Amino acid sequence: MLVLVTGAQGQVGRELLQRAPPGFSVIGYGSGDLDISDRAQVREILARIKPQLLINAAAYTAVDKAESEVERAYGVNRDGVAHLALAAEELGIPLLHISTDYVFSGDSDSAYQPGDVTAPSGVYGLSKLAGEQQLQQHCSRHVILRTSWVFGAHGNNFVKTMLRLGRDRDELAVVADQRGCPTSAGSIADTLWALASIFQRDGALKWGLYHYSGAPACTWYDFADEIFSQALTQGLLEKRPSLKAITTTEYPTPAKRPAWSVLDCQALEHAHGLAPQSWTRELQQVLQQLRETAPHG
Ligand SMILES: NC(=O)c1ccc[n+]([C@@H]2O[C@H](COP(=O)([O-])OP(=O)(O)OC[C@H]3O[C@@H](n4cnc5c(N)ncnc54)[C@H](OP(=O)(O)O)[C@@H]3O)[C@@H](O)[C@H]2O)c1
Repeated sequence: MLVLVTGAQGQVGRELLQRAPPGFSVIGYGSGDLDISDRAQVREILARIKPQLLINAAAYTAVDKAESEVERAYGVNRDGVAHLALAAEELGIPLLHISTDYVFSGDSDSAYQPGDVTAPSGVYGLSKLAGEQQLQQHCSRHVILRTSWVFGAHGNNFVKTMLRLGRDRDELAVVADQRGCPTSAGSIADTLWALASIFQRDGALKWGLYHYSGAPACTWYDFADEIFSQALTQGLLEKRPSLKAITTTEYPTPAKRPAWSVLDCQALEHAHGLAPQSWTRELQQVLQQLRETAPHG
């Protein structure tokens, strides 16, 4: 089965390319080769390549910058997804797409179900929600997989930031009043490939909106604490920085972050038998990968 992956240089995109199971041929397009905000280019490439499945890992993900680059964020996250959805529908190609916990307000205290009311608080979340709506409107065979707190060996993420700061500083202040689910880019890629495999086997999927994240939920402070414990064990750090728990108000950012980002992933498990993975175990593998690729000397 021929699969086209957009956003192939991103955290999830790179894992998708590396983890394709046997039986799939994958063509990955980075933003330089396929700009999803260009409608004509999307249509031309999909019509020429004729993939049997499309996975969209492309997105504008700069949450804070989105507050001042509103048009760019919408150009990719809403319009880009609309272009993919329209072309995919016209050419009969199903589309697997990734979305975010930022579609929710973060005011809850129980895990968000896929059907819960959305109320994004910033431009990034609003543009991603608009993308979900475009996909639902224009492409009949789609899966939207909302995820959260993505980390991996490639690209910029919280794990790599903590490792860098942990080497440079003796003390670090980390937000301890936001709760969510760290999710490895690799486990998202595996989940998307598992869905693709079901589609390949059955010629269909239970299309629709699902949540997928790592387990269990924790705060950024807990996440940092675990990163430092494991980094010490794996020899990626020589000393442990002391961690200071702070509140969101003590760490102001241009875009508001949801205080509660916990996603309920049961719908995906019931429909497709795909369960959340332990993020601590995934973290071990990511750190090992970073250790193996770290410059020596
Ligand atoms: N990161 C998180 O914590 C997080 C949390 C929840 C959900 N998600 C969602 O998960 C998905 C994957 O995120 P990620 O962490 O892998 O993001 P990422 O590392 O930022 O990758 C996104 C990729 O999209 C590409 N891209 C940007 N604009 C594009 C365009 N117009 N056309 C084609 N490609 C374009 C980027 O390329 P350039 O770098 O060249 O611009 C980048 O390689 C996204 O849908 C994101 O919204 C992420």
